[in-house]
Amino acid sequence: MATKNKLFLGLFIHSKALNELEYLHDTAVGVDKEGKITIVERDCDEKKARETVLPRLGWKDAEVEVVKAKEGQFFFPGFIDTHIHAPQYPNAGIFGNSTLLDWLDTYTFPLEASLSDLAKARRVYTRVIHKTLSHGTTCAAYYATIDVPATNLLADLCYARGQRALIGRVCMNEPYTSPTNYRDESAEASLAATRASIAHIRTLDPTHTLIQPIITPRFAPSCTFPLLVQLGALAAETALPIQTHISENRAEIALVKTLFPRAVTGAADDSYAGVYDAAGLLTGRTVLAHAVHLTAGEAALVARRGAKVSHCPGSNTALGSGAARVRRLLDRGIVCGLGTDVSGGFSPSVLEAARAAVMVSRHVVFMGEAAPAGGVGEDREREKLSVEEALFLATRGGAEVVGLEERVGRFAVGMEWDAQLVGLGVVGEDGDAVGDEDGGDVDVFGWETWPDRVAKWVYNGDDRNTKMVWVKGRLVHARK
Ligand code: GUN
Ligand code: ZN
Repeated sequence: MATKNKLFLGLFIHSKALNELEYLHDTAVGVDKEGKITIVERDCDEKKARETVLPRLGWKDAEVEVVKAKEGQFFFPGFIDTHIHAPQYPNAGIFGNSTLLDWLDTYTFPLEASLSDLAKARRVYTRVIHKTLSHGTTCAAYYATIDVPATNLLADLCYARGQRALIGRVCMNEPYTSPTNYRDESAEASLAATRASIAHIRTLDPTHTLIQPIITPRFAPSCTFPLLVQLGALAAETALPIQTHISENRAEIALVKTLFPRAVTGAADDSYAGVYDAAGLLTGRTVLAHAVHLTAGEAALVARRGAKVSHCPGSNTALGSGAARVRRLLDRGIVCGLGTDVSGGFSPSVLEAARAAVMVSRHVVFMGEAAPAGGVGEDREREKLSVEEALFLATRGGAEVVGLEERVGRFAVGMEWDAQLVGLGVVGEDGDAVGDEDGGDVDVFGWETWPDRVAKWVYNGDDRNTKMVWVKGRLVHARK
C-alpha cells in the first residue's frame, strides 16, 4: 500500500481508443494512500494544485508527496505482460534453432523441473520480478511450474515486491508429452496441487488487491482430456481466470488432432479451440497465448466465448512459430494484449513486444493473403498495427485480457495508480545531452511533436527510459 497521498504533475499520456493516444499536458493527478486516483485536473501547475486541488481533496500540503515530470518526461500506464513464464527467465535468448516441441523438451522442461529447488527458484523469481518491473511491467500473468511450494514462493515474492500478478501453477499430466521427472502423477493430483496453490494465494491476498491465482493447463498436449475437464469445472466453481496456449505451432496443432479425436472430446470438430471448448475452458476469463494459426471457425468460436488472446510476437518469431494476424482477431472483436512469453520470447520487455507487434504486422502484409476488410474486398495495409495500437495492446488491451480493465490501464478517477515515468533524452543546442539523465537511444531534439516522440520511444526505447514505476500507488522501481 502507498504510505502517503501523492500528487503527480506534468504530462500524462494514455490510450483513449485503440488507435488514439490522449495527451494530458500540464495536468495534476492525485493518488490516495490506497493507490487510487482521486482527481485528474487539467491545466494545472504546481501552484494551482497546491492552492486549489489539495484543499479540495482535504490533503495537507506537507503530507503530500509531489512527483513532477521534467522536460522530456511523461507518465504512462504501467505495461501488462499477459503471458510470461517466470521459471524460464534464465533461458531468455537460449533457443538455438529449435521449434516449439523440441524446445520444450530440450530447454524448457529441464529448467522448470530444476526449480523445485527453492533456493534456485527464489533466485530466478527475484530476478525476473526485478527485471520486469524495471521495464515498466506493473502487472504480469505468470506461469510458474508444477511445483506448489515454488509457485507459492513466486506469489509471495510478487506480493512483497509489489508487482501485480496472476500466478498459475502449471498443470501437465500427459505421459506421452511430459517427462517422467516433470509431470503430475494423475489428473486428481494435478487438481489437488492446483487447489493447494489457489488456497495459498487466497490466504496471501484474500481480496486480490495485488495477486490472484489463475488456472493453468500448460496446453492441450500436456494434459489428458479428463484433466482439462476437471480444470474447466474448477474454473466454473471458483470463477477464476484461466491461461493456456493455443495454435502456436503447426506440429503442435497436428499433435492436438492426434491426441484429442472427436471420440475423446465429444466436440463437433477436432479443432484445437474445440478441445478447450469441450472441456469448459473457453470462457470470458480465458487468456489464450499465441493463436497464430487459428482457423476462421476457431476465431469465431473464441469470439463467441469472449476468450482473450495474448499476442506474443517476439516469441513467435524466435521459435519460428509463425506470424499472428492480430488485425483479424481485433476485427472479430477478440480482445488482445501483448505477452513477452519469456523464454520462448527472448526479451522481458513489453515495450520490445510492442515494437515486435508493429514489425510482425508489417511482415504479415508482405506475406500476402489479406484479411477481408468488413467482409468484402482486400485491404492488406489494414493489417499493419500503428504505434498507438501497439501501446493500447500493451496497456488497456492487456488490462482487459487479464480482467483488470476497471482497475488499471489508463488514468481516470477511481482507477489504481499503476504507472511509469518515462524519460527521453534531451539534446541541447551543442548536440550534447541536457542534464545527467540517461535517455538511452531516444534523442529528442525539441522540434518533434509528442506523437513523434512517443514513436521514437517505441522504436528505440528500453529500460533506460523507465525512470520510476508504481503499482497501486507504491513506488516499486526507481532507476539509479
Ligand atoms: N506451449 C506449451 N508450453 C509452452 C511454453 O512454455 N512456452 C511456449 N511458448 N509455448 C508453450
Ligand atoms: Zn508461453
